[in-house]
Amino acid sequence: YIIFEFIVLQFQIFYYILESIFRLFVPVEPESVKGEIVLITGTGHGIGQQLAYQYAAAGAKVVCWDINEKNNQATAEEIVKRGYARPHCYVCDVSNRQEVLKVGEEVKKEVGNVNILINNAGIMPTHPLEQHTEEEIRRIMDINVLAHFWTLEAFLPAMKQANRGHIVCLSSIAGVVGIPNLVPYSASKFAVRGLMETLAEELRWNPTNQIKTTTVCPFMVDTGLCKRPFVKFEQALNLLSPEHVAQKIAQAQRTGKTEITIPEILLPVGILTRLLPEKAQIKVKEFFNSGVNSDLE
Ligand SMILES: NC(=O)c1ccc[n+]([C@@H]2O[C@H](COP(=O)([O-])OP(=O)(O)OC[C@H]3O[C@@H](n4cnc5c(N)ncnc54)[C@H](O)[C@@H]3O)[C@@H](O)[C@H]2O)c1
Repeated sequence: YIIFEFIVLQFQIFYYILESIFRLFVPVEPESVKGEIVLITGTGHGIGQQLAYQYAAAGAKVVCWDINEKNNQATAEEIVKRGYARPHCYVCDVSNRQEVLKVGEEVKKEVGNVNILINNAGIMPTHPLEQHTEEEIRRIMDINVLAHFWTLEAFLPAMKQANRGHIVCLSSIAGVVGIPNLVPYSASKFAVRGLMETLAEELRWNPTNQIKTTTVCPFMVDTGLCKRPFVKFEQALNLLSPEHVAQKIAQAQRTGKTEITIPEILLPVGILTRLLPEKAQIKVKEFFNSGVNSDLE
């Protein structure tokens, strides 16, 4: 019986390899997000702000969360100026569980159940491990990791009840390979990938599950978060624009991709590099020679 199961598995693997090759030539059509309630955290600046613009332009009901009220309002004004529906703005520190649950209830009452949750807010102190303070390390974990648990606590139950929804999280290339000067940040972004992979597995316990997950790992983005980047191959792998990254994130969400890097080639490169002998892996890293200098110097 096990041999039979194993043979079936071979056919399934072969079938899905063919399917993914087919999808390289005939990509999945993006789903419409018109009228969907999309909650994005960290919409006052950078990638989150661009995501708010793009979902508003696509006809979604956008809910903007940021700790910075002024910047969040500026995002809303820009959306109105561009001729789209005014988003619903809330001040919320996503690292504060009580606040997330309270503001989450307000959103449910005032706007409705969130269909697409985009956990984007994040911080990135950049210096050698021993120069990180305890407070910094805890703050990185609170905002970049624990906040995801609180927004899931606020919005996943309704998604489960409706058996419909999509959870998107921002990890990073620093969550695929460890990057010097970013020990706590890299740890937080690896944690996000672990959280999302496990959540997806748990959702699959329900054989009819329709709730999707997307984890996004961008290379360095020109938002100011990454203060002192250095890149070897400036032509091929330069800092990405937040517009481009938001476009890729929305596309990945709307086509139901589970995990992407931006640019996409970095995911297979990362996986294949890990198959190499350790010393060869180091040589690959030295060849790419890109990273971040300390923000304390
Ligand atoms: N910029 C990059 O190079 C890069 C690369 C890979 C991944 N990322 C990830 O993308 C996400 C967005 O990054 P960005 O470059 O747009 O950052 P950004 O600094 O430009 O914007 C982050 C926004 O989040 C808000 N925010 C911070 N702490 C918050 C909190 N506790 N509660 C609510 N809002 C809070 C800030 O006010 C700001 O508006 C982050 O998770 C980051 O780790 C960024």
